[in-house]
Amino acid sequence: NSTLKYIIEQTIVVDQSGSHFWSIQAAIDAVPKDNLRWVCIEIRRGIYREQIRIPREKPYIFLKGESRLKTVIAWDGHDSIQSATFISEANDTRAKGLTFLNSYNYGPSRNQIYPAVAAKIDGDRVAFYNCRFLGLQDTLWDVRGRHYFHRCTIEGAVDFIFGSGQSIYEGCTISVNVDAIGPGYVGYITAQGRSYPYESNGFVFKNCNIDGKGKVYLGRPWGIYSRVIFYKTLMSDVVVPQGWDSWRSQGQEYKLMFSEIDCRGMGANTTGRVGWVNKHSSKNLQPFIDLSYIDKEGWL
Ligand SMILES: *[C@@H]1O[C@H](CO)[C@@H](O)[C@H](O)[C@H]1NC(C)=O
Ligand SMILES: *[C@@H]1O[C@H](CO)[C@@H](O)[C@H](O)[C@H]1NC(C)=O
Repeated sequence: NSTLKYIIEQTIVVDQSGSHFWSIQAAIDAVPKDNLRWVCIEIRRGIYREQIRIPREKPYIFLKGESRLKTVIAWDGHDSIQSATFISEANDTRAKGLTFLNSYNYGPSRNQIYPAVAAKIDGDRVAFYNCRFLGLQDTLWDVRGRHYFHRCTIEGAVDFIFGSGQSIYEGCTISVNVDAIGPGYVGYITAQGRSYPYESNGFVFKNCNIDGKGKVYLGRPWGIYSRVIFYKTLMSDVVVPQGWDSWRSQGQEYKLMFSEIDCRGMGANTTGRVGWVNKHSSKNLQPFIDLSYIDKEGWL
């Protein structure tokens, strides 16, 4: 288990029964600014209906739920992609065993569909273990910085993993729920935002599992140098044969880096893929597949 090899120097308990902090934000507020020691915020079971934010000046916070089914943070912000349930701006943040839910278009909701972000992850050196990110459109905004997602579930229908993060998703479940939008619609898993050739960001999915209801593209470019790699990933037939959509990059597809290597399952059949998709060897992609893509100095 690669989780948390550092020393927790302080633990703050959040518990809805009221004998400790009863809100997660109150616990975050209690961490001093420019904190330099790991603080564990232990969140006991319950549904916490609050929007939470870890500000830039509060690094070294570890949010630890009881388990991802028992500890749920839910909010329904949908004014803009800024109004996420969880906003993480600090460097060096960890979370484990939690669910981040944007409930606006989730479940039996009949609201008109809007971008409704469950988590907005800014900041460098941020890792999630056994977490769930639930929403429909724009569920997980992987804004920027180096991020690691291990055994997480990300659910949605439209651009539900998006942004310019430099991230590895390892052993994660991509849960497609396009049926919630309606018949005939085809969704998009990723909308990666790399905009310039010198940018190092990109999304790498390793040993993941794509499944669910409805049909999706693996991605469409949110930046003209968008980079997304699926490696050793199991894809059910929710993935459409074309695989990728060029969106606003028509005629400039050669700038994109969309790759699939050693994937399997009904959706991984590349016979019907768009002609412009990259055919890289796993050797060429090794620098991205390796954990050193996000961690050269050993922060994980
Ligand atoms: C966060 O990390 C980045 C890159 O490692 C650094 O440039 C930035 O100054 C850090 N931010 C803060 C608030 O320390
Ligand atoms: C892949 O798809 C093509 C065309 O749709 C089909 O002819 C072929 O049998 C499929 N291959 C596998 C291994 O299913």
